[in-house]
Amino acid sequence: MKILSLKYEFIFSLLQQKGYYFFKKQSVKAVEQQSFKFGKRRIYLIHDAEMIRSAFKVGKRLHREPLKKIIGNGLFSEETNSESRNRRRKIQEKIKSGTISYVNDCIAKNYQNFKLTGLQEKSIVTRLQHLSIETNVDIVLSPATYTEKKELCDAISIILEYIEYELFSRIKIGWGKKKRFNDAKACIDEYVGRKILQPELVSKDSLLGCLLSLYNEEELDEQQVIDEVLSFLGSGVETAGIMLVWIAKCYLDYPQQAEVLRAELIEQQLDCRTALSNKKFSNYVMEVLRHYPAAWAMIRYIEDDQISGVEADSFVWLSPCVTHFDPRYWEEPESFMPDRFDSQYNKNAYFPFSQGTHKCFGEYLAMNQMKAFVYHCTTKLDIQNSNICVDGYSSKLALAPKKITGRLVEKA
Ligand code: HEM
Repeated sequence: MKILSLKYEFIFSLLQQKGYYFFKKQSVKAVEQQSFKFGKRRIYLIHDAEMIRSAFKVGKRLHREPLKKIIGNGLFSEETNSESRNRRRKIQEKIKSGTISYVNDCIAKNYQNFKLTGLQEKSIVTRLQHLSIETNVDIVLSPATYTEKKELCDAISIILEYIEYELFSRIKIGWGKKKRFNDAKACIDEYVGRKILQPELVSKDSLLGCLLSLYNEEELDEQQVIDEVLSFLGSGVETAGIMLVWIAKCYLDYPQQAEVLRAELIEQQLDCRTALSNKKFSNYVMEVLRHYPAAWAMIRYIEDDQISGVEADSFVWLSPCVTHFDPRYWEEPESFMPDRFDSQYNKNAYFPFSQGTHKCFGEYLAMNQMKAFVYHCTTKLDIQNSNICVDGYSSKLALAPKKITGRLVEKA
């Protein structure tokens, strides 16, 4: 099993490095399924919406060992099994209307204070990633002081950097990097340990608050609380952060659509909170996610003859960056048309957050952060003096610009 798993890890990491281009190329070829043999098994690239639906329904997520070694056994690094699905259900049940309101407060607070000015070249990505880290650290961990928040944000940055390095770099990780990572992880462990002793210092509506409530009911032990915290932050921060870059790019690339948002903002007298439930803002974010799906590929193991055309004991790859542009499901797929989501569309052909058993746990948090950023662009971005140019893509943890030039300027 270990050898088998290593072989798959190798091909997955190869596809992950060149994968975006590989998948993009598939879309211009015939749309029938393609597959290739890898060892004893076959790997299918699935494009068809109906097959995608079945794959998400019956497929299993396997081989998560590399991620587990770094962030533990939280939801994001779990294989498909009944224990983890049960845990997901219990955590989900703890999320109440108070959590939703707390999440939106954290988003509004962090985004309102964010300054666009001074963002240029690489700092566009790093500063927007930082905004995502700061917001998600508040949502998940609810630090009480500025010092606590800074320590946690620094720790999460180091952990994210380490995940990317450990999973995708061919260079052996040096001692210094490993120590930095261990210290960062210890910082999160200690924080959670302290809050377990003093739960009154954590907002009960934060995600940690929900986990601590399960801890008190003896549904989770301390290590499981830590693992879930790392799972939320490890899966959500990078993806949400990179989506902010794609939002800014689309905002500048499609000025007519930006005008639609400005008109809506004036007509409906929106503020940051009310924009979060506005349909035009929601459509806009969905269209950015269709064009630039940060989670650009997913994989499932198909055990039996459950999908016609896919043999038993094989793997399927699903890529939103192919299916989101398939002309069978999308009118003028290359056009940026947020209003397309006002009409009926094939929901199986749209999966920026995956579907089925492992559908993103943080979809609501991510959607609202993105809508808040669209609001931020609509109210603050100086379109005339801002520009973003992307040269190539990097498809490691999330679909990101390989090289980025330009600058963002705030209205005077
Ligand atoms: C735009 C931002 C985001 C995108 C595009 C995204 C996308 C995804 C996708 C595609 C999956 C499924 C992976 C698979 O099928 O193997 C997933 C799972 C997950 N996401 Fe997100 N995500 C985002 C933000 C977040 C945030 C902010 C959180 C914080 C809570 C989060 C937490 C999770 C967790 C815990 C899982 C594992 C769910 C499970 O397997 O039960 N995500 N995400």
